[in-house]
Amino acid sequence: MQLIDGKATAAKIKEEIAEEVKQIVAAGGKQPHLAAILVGHDGGSETYVKNKVIACETCGFKSTLIRFEEDIPEVELLAKVKELNEDSDVDGFIVQLPLPKHIDEQKVIMAIDYRKDVDGFHPINVGRMSIGLPCFISATPLGIITLLRRYNIETSGKKCVVLGRSNIVGKPMAQLMMQKQYGDATVTVCHSHSKTLKEDCKEADIIIAAIGRPDFVTADMVKEGAVIVDVGTTRVPDATKKKGFRLNGDVKFDEVSPKCSFITPVPGGVGPMTICSLMKNTLSAGKKEFYK
Ligand code: GUN
Repeated sequence: MQLIDGKATAAKIKEEIAEEVKQIVAAGGKQPHLAAILVGHDGGSETYVKNKVIACETCGFKSTLIRFEEDIPEVELLAKVKELNEDSDVDGFIVQLPLPKHIDEQKVIMAIDYRKDVDGFHPINVGRMSIGLPCFISATPLGIITLLRRYNIETSGKKCVVLGRSNIVGKPMAQLMMQKQYGDATVTVCHSHSKTLKEDCKEADIIIAAIGRPDFVTADMVKEGAVIVDVGTTRVPDATKKKGFRLNGDVKFDEVSPKCSFITPVPGGVGPMTICSLMKNTLSAGKKEFYK
């Protein structure tokens, strides 16, 4: 069994990005600029956004964090989105999700200029991704594809099960694993109502677990030699930890890992790759790689 080190891979990629930024700036080009909007004080979102800002520094990007209280009216948030759309210094921006219940998340995503949508959540980017056109690809699926490539894991023609069908991970992941220029695999998507989930997993060469249910994937669901990618990051109370919780994946690591050829740990697997893919998208935005 080989552990897939997302932390080390992400660090290496951020170094590569920083080197490219140095060259761009030395040649008189513009430093890429990522803005992030954070609404409220959710612990998970605070951590994610803080890590995104730190990653920007590592990559040599400019970053701007815009904070709003939980009760911000939707119109005010939409006005800020419009302002960032029109700010020529901002190359890309994100609105950290989830948003409070009184705000229509889809409406906010649709308000973002797709040319600055470095999360790849706008329907134009989602649509372009699904037919293989250049676009911003959402960060977690892009990070997973990058990890599989950097570890030379064969995906072409393999049976891949994606657990979960969220707009952020499950759906784009299944699309990418299916496409010839990415996974080129045979893809099955399983979710909470799938009747043959266990049997499908048992036949899979690659399982990508993104259902947000701690320890859901057990050893009896995994074929000998399978590749396991664990996207789960549920906060589970843990009195032995300083913060009072630990991050738990969707895979029961201790019993599943001995059966795998490759497996991502939690933490230190997919998580760091998500942030580094956002940096990659921001660099692309700065270079106007996909859209003029
Ligand atoms: N919430 C959980 N993951 C993400 C992400 O990739 N981007 C944004 N904006 N919010 C998230």
